[in-house]
Amino acid sequence: MKKLITIIGARPQFIKAAAISRVIREQYPDKISEVLIHTGQHYDPNMSDVFFEELNLPREDYNLHIGSGNHGLQTGQMMIAIEEVVLKEKPDALLLYGDTNSTLAGCLVGSKLHIPVIHVEAGVRSYNKKFPEEVNRIICDHVSSLLFVPSDAGMESLEKEGFQMDDSGTVRSYRCGDIMYDNSLYFRSKAKGMKNNVFDTYNLPKSNFILVTMHRPSNVDRLETLESILKAFIDVAEAHDKEVIFPMHPRTKHSISKFPELDAYLQNDRLHVIPSVSFLDIILLQMGADLVITDSGGVQKEAYFVEKPCLIMLEETPWVELLDTGAAVLVGSDYEKICSGAKKFLTEDTELVFEKLYGDGKSSEFICDKVYNYLLEI
Ligand code: UD1
Repeated sequence: MKKLITIIGARPQFIKAAAISRVIREQYPDKISEVLIHTGQHYDPNMSDVFFEELNLPREDYNLHIGSGNHGLQTGQMMIAIEEVVLKEKPDALLLYGDTNSTLAGCLVGSKLHIPVIHVEAGVRSYNKKFPEEVNRIICDHVSSLLFVPSDAGMESLEKEGFQMDDSGTVRSYRCGDIMYDNSLYFRSKAKGMKNNVFDTYNLPKSNFILVTMHRPSNVDRLETLESILKAFIDVAEAHDKEVIFPMHPRTKHSISKFPELDAYLQNDRLHVIPSVSFLDIILLQMGADLVITDSGGVQKEAYFVEKPCLIMLEETPWVELLDTGAAVLVGSDYEKICSGAKKFLTEDTELVFEKLYGDGKSSEFICDKVYNYLLEI
């Protein structure tokens, strides 16, 4: 029996881990045992617990309760606590997802203790190191032994950074498709059959709406930026006779609550602000929306999975293949770009083509097979 420690902490990681954990439990019950560490980075029930329940992710074996804080404090405290568990559990490898501070803490601990690190969602690059996620991704890839890369662009980035591209070196990278696509397919029918969904709970319009999500510090921490974004949402809604559904990340909520100047926007009848929602509910919202506007790396791809156009509120995206299809456009936090981007998708009659960019929905199986064979070898 091989032992993996999986480290998760932030909302997107619960969802990603659900895909791999499902395959480990179903197909490797006597071969791989998985110990789950939750760092506690996300701790609100609707940012954490709801995902474990809904995605059937086993509850964590350890919760480190680290919570929010400045980057150094948060990452440092995570490292101290993760190291203790790893020394006690003596795993064969650490399994990490994505680009959060929980990923960073885990990869540093693993590499210092000479325990192989496996990085799922490797090679992803936005080429902007002002984003903490970019720094976390680069570091994690460079101390990992096994890299699972969701896109062609990711493989090219790794090649540029000098990673070996064949199976013979100590570092191995695989183009494996995207486990979030696995999840989007797997949970779609469950979402459709769900009772008491987000539309009923909050009495929301079921069609003719735009879905927006945002939580990046670059969009939500300053008054001027928030004001121009909120004004753009409302003006777009009025110009195209749409409603806007806005599940609000706690970071955004904290920030907005500091600025009473924004109240008038928030009280606009067309804007439906609701608390952040579960994965099944966000899938339902994505499927019902005419347009998605987001600064989330995950949501921009999920919009594509359900064949919806998307405005990406960032200056660059690691998911460049989305831009190439024409179904997604970068708009940053610019009022004019948000309005003109929305107009393009809501009024022009261009047919969008949604090719399969992210694998066949079986990336988790592929990853588990490679991981297990790797564990047998080391
Ligand atoms: C983190 C990830 C980001 C990911 C996002 C998904 C890093 C550097 N960033 O950003 O890549 O896209 O999660 O959600 O790891 N807060 C709460 N309750 C919670 C969680 C957060 O109130 O359960 C508030 C706190 O005010 C906290 C702030 O949100 O200070 C930021 O939380 P943090 O986890 O540091 O970063 P995110 O912005 O969520």
